[in-house]
Amino acid sequence: MQPDFVTTRNAGHAASLVLPEPNRLSLPQSAVHVWVLNDALVEPVCSALAHTLSPDERQRAQAYLHEWHRNDFIARRSLLRWLIGCYLTCKPESLRFSVTPFGKPVVQWPRAARIAFSVSHTDGMTLLAFAWSCRIGVDVERRIDGLDVGGLGRGIFSLIEEAALDRMRPDAAATLLSIWTRKEALLKALGTGLSGEPSAYTTEDDLLLGAGRWRASHRGKTISGWTCLDLAFGADVRAALAVSRDGARVTLHRARHL
Ligand SMILES: CC(C)(COP(=O)(O)OP(=O)(O)OC[C@H]1O[C@@H](n2cnc3c(N)ncnc32)[C@H](O)[C@@H]1OP(=O)(O)O)[C@@H](O)C(=O)NCCC(=O)NCCS
Repeated sequence: MQPDFVTTRNAGHAASLVLPEPNRLSLPQSAVHVWVLNDALVEPVCSALAHTLSPDERQRAQAYLHEWHRNDFIARRSLLRWLIGCYLTCKPESLRFSVTPFGKPVVQWPRAARIAFSVSHTDGMTLLAFAWSCRIGVDVERRIDGLDVGGLGRGIFSLIEEAALDRMRPDAAATLLSIWTRKEALLKALGTGLSGEPSAYTTEDDLLLGAGRWRASHRGKTISGWTCLDLAFGADVRAALAVSRDGARVTLHRARHL
């Protein structure tokens, strides 16, 4: 039955959500799974999975003023529970999360779970990334038309990133989003988010590895042993992934309709 904190407009969608059989979903040791949840699936996911949320997650959901923000949260958190439940072979509703002082959610129960995960959302799309025993960060942003890039990124971008942005002016919006998503992916993997020391880190194209690959450094020292890449979702969206594992095999998965 539909929990009363979910508002749905299109009754009947729940039956059309297709998720893989939980026992057929395995995450190999060196793999990274990135799940894509599009807007169209938000209501079906809410209907099918919202009952798995904990009391504090329900409270957080109810605090959203707008129905679409509320449902977005319910969908991404309950899909997160469902997927982690599959990977750890436990019931989604039995999972317990806590947050670090920087706001990063981590699995508190089952204890010592080796699953690493990261979540990001933008208008119309959520990404959820998973791997074992590593640090992982994902970020997605939608392009904003007419974005005035002047001043954005100040205090967050490093001098090298600022220079890369300056070279692209006046058409710097795509470069800004690219640096922004890479940096947030990295800082989410490190767990500090933007409240760490964002300008001490630099993200740059990795020309040796090819298009869409990037590397990160901290105060000029390369952060080695990581896989850092852009994720392609068309011209309107920029997304990036950072994983503290060399040569990680990244695959994309989509929650689907029938
Ligand atoms: C937290 C932050 C990384 C989110 O970035 P964003 O582009 O606004 O939002 P995204 O959709 O990409 O990411 C949101 C997700 O990041 C995760 N997250 C939050 N803090 C995080 C952190 N320190 N490290 C890694 N992941 C974090 C959560 O899973 C959150 O999902 P939720 O809203 O479903 O709980 C960014 O806002 C930030 O660094 N802010 C400064 C720190 C801060 O205010 N912390 C919160 C209070 S302690």
